[in-house]
Amino acid sequence: MPQRVTTVFACQSCGSASPKWLGRCPECGEWNSYVEEIRGPKPSSAREAIAAPITGEAQSSEIRVETGMPGLDRVLGGGIVAGSVVLLGGEPGIGKSTFLLQVARAVAARAGEVLYATAEESAPQVRLRGERLRIHEGSLLLIAETDVACIVAGAEGRAPALLIVDSIQAVRDTALASAAGTVSQVRECASVLLRYAKSRGVPVVLIGHVTKDGSLAGPKSLEHLVDTVVTLEGDRTSLRRMLRATKNRFGPVDELALYDMTGEGLTEIANPSAALLAERRRDLPGSAVTAAREGSRCLLVEIQALVGPSAAGSPRRVAIGVDGGRLALLLAVLEGAGLSLASREVFVSCAGGLETAEPASDLAVVAALVSSARGRAIPADVACFGEIGLLGEVRRVPAAGSRLKEAAAMGFTTAYLPAGDAAEAARFPDMTIRPVDRVADFLKMMG
Ligand code: TYD
Ligand code: MG
Repeated sequence: MPQRVTTVFACQSCGSASPKWLGRCPECGEWNSYVEEIRGPKPSSAREAIAAPITGEAQSSEIRVETGMPGLDRVLGGGIVAGSVVLLGGEPGIGKSTFLLQVARAVAARAGEVLYATAEESAPQVRLRGERLRIHEGSLLLIAETDVACIVAGAEGRAPALLIVDSIQAVRDTALASAAGTVSQVRECASVLLRYAKSRGVPVVLIGHVTKDGSLAGPKSLEHLVDTVVTLEGDRTSLRRMLRATKNRFGPVDELALYDMTGEGLTEIANPSAALLAERRRDLPGSAVTAAREGSRCLLVEIQALVGPSAAGSPRRVAIGVDGGRLALLLAVLEGAGLSLASREVFVSCAGGLETAEPASDLAVVAALVSSARGRAIPADVACFGEIGLLGEVRRVPAAGSRLKEAAAMGFTTAYLPAGDAAEAARFPDMTIRPVDRVADFLKMMG
């Protein structure tokens, strides 16, 4: 039978395919996202699958390769699982190549040979970055290659401790006619690398560029293919970077590691609370500190609010790093508790570029709003946390004890917390504990 090459139109946003061109993707709603792709012949010879009982050859615990890279091992849940595929996503220029070159060095120094396949930059460019990072590990090898089959063949001959591919959008499978970076290429290349990882037990890390709207450029489908998705985020105008897992088959998804981009790559911030509070201006109205939970740790973060007179029209409500819906809720609750901000402009932000989606920061948001509205600063040694309900009640939060512990460690001496969590405070005799039952009481307590 003659080999047949089929033409399909694939959405570059979500990967759904159609035999004809469509102006708008029926799956994800994206406009003008269909691109013609040529798909090579499907292999026709089907092998017989082997069925084996679940009871045999148990893998009692997965083997992990500890990177020794501060923060990353914690985010992954104790290192990279052998044979797993990790996708590192992030905007172009955020520091993905820099970070993974540091990871490559760390693994090369501890676990053996590391292959860094660079499809985007030339080997001299990567060497230059390596010099800047002072990397001298002889067991860190570069493969400057865009053909995914060549990369896998190169790895097959060496059995590395780790394979890094920079980036998945720049490699191609020559069996497909479409250009690198298209959905079918990205997906196919990822599955080739996935097969390699699983069959050889080698951990593979893929770099993936992320578009402005937050999706992995082109293939969202890649997120389902891989075992773990880790993202490197941060405002490019600042040097602060945040690493977190958004999907993790082998560990937690809420761990966070903070880094600063320095002249010698990314360095983990050992004491995030201190770093996040470093720029805080004491004794200014509109600033409150909360203890937020990020994975296994608690961080102290500053919530800022600015309440001002409204220009003509409806007053603005702006929330940065804080949930806008919760802000609206808190303003309504404050209204009910006797503080009306209906005619004022309200801006709330989580300082330091962090985001807090936790309801436990409600009490600090309210404290910052009240402080700004009254023009009265909250004493610098006060921390607050607590979820606020629609009825104005202050509800219990998880891990109240850990939050108090972090506050105490950072020198805070007074804590406002849910009345229901006050029992936790017995362990902190040096702290002044102010249990809050209702928002209306909180307004009185704040003086
Ligand atoms: P890069 O790792 O190339 O980003 P990505 O791979 O995500 O596109 O990082 C690019 C930026 O990082 C660039 O603006 C230079 C900066 N940088 C440092 O600040 N310090 C360093 O040690 C290195 C290597 C890069
Ligand atoms: Mg790069």
